[in-house]
Amino acid sequence: MPNNILIAYGSKRGATKEIAEKIGEALGHRGCSVDVSDAGIVKDIAPYDTVILGSSVYIGLWHRSAVRFLKTHGESLEKLPVWIFICGPTGKGNPIDQMEGWFYPKSLQPIMERIHPQDITCFGGRLSLGTLNPFEKWIIKKVEAPEGDFRNWEAIGQWATSTVSATPVQ
Ligand SMILES: Cc1cc2nc3c(=O)[nH]c(=O)nc-3n(C[C@H](O)[C@H](O)[C@H](O)COP(=O)(O)O)c2cc1C
Repeated sequence: MPNNILIAYGSKRGATKEIAEKIGEALGHRGCSVDVSDAGIVKDIAPYDTVILGSSVYIGLWHRSAVRFLKTHGESLEKLPVWIFICGPTGKGNPIDQMEGWFYPKSLQPIMERIHPQDITCFGGRLSLGTLNPFEKWIIKKVEAPEGDFRNWEAIGQWATSTVSATPVQ
């Protein structure tokens, strides 16, 4: 069972952040010590024995802070159990199926191979047209992505628990 868990997230409009917080809450209830932090402000991951990284997805790209976190802490992450989730697709159906096996852009392939995450999963996202800038609105209308909150809190809680029970003891 891991003791010190860092949950770092890259989130533009808060949906991914709230998932990170929910995972943190679930793991806290299981007796873990958890820090939930914006990936962009994490300086040092030395105190942690497990890392969970979450990123929102915009136009097929990860959030800049999540990418930078991977690159900055890559060497340390190689030695730790790392779990990854992305938050993106809206609409009905299983988000992993909706993404057709896509979890990260090709540019992150080399670092993923080195870090070798325990698991990568995808959760549905939240989309509200009123919060978007005109360019984003145009994109969303073009791809006909449905508005709404498609985060499945039960699935998120289950995944959180699976990370703890499957993490190797250091
Ligand atoms: C302009 C725009 C582009 C998006 N592109 C994608 C995408 O390529 N793939 C995807 O799964 N979701 C996409 N989304 C959906 C977001 O990932 C979703 O709204 C997510 O919940 C945002 O997370 P955040 O609130 O943490 O920023 C897009 C949303 C917007 C507004």
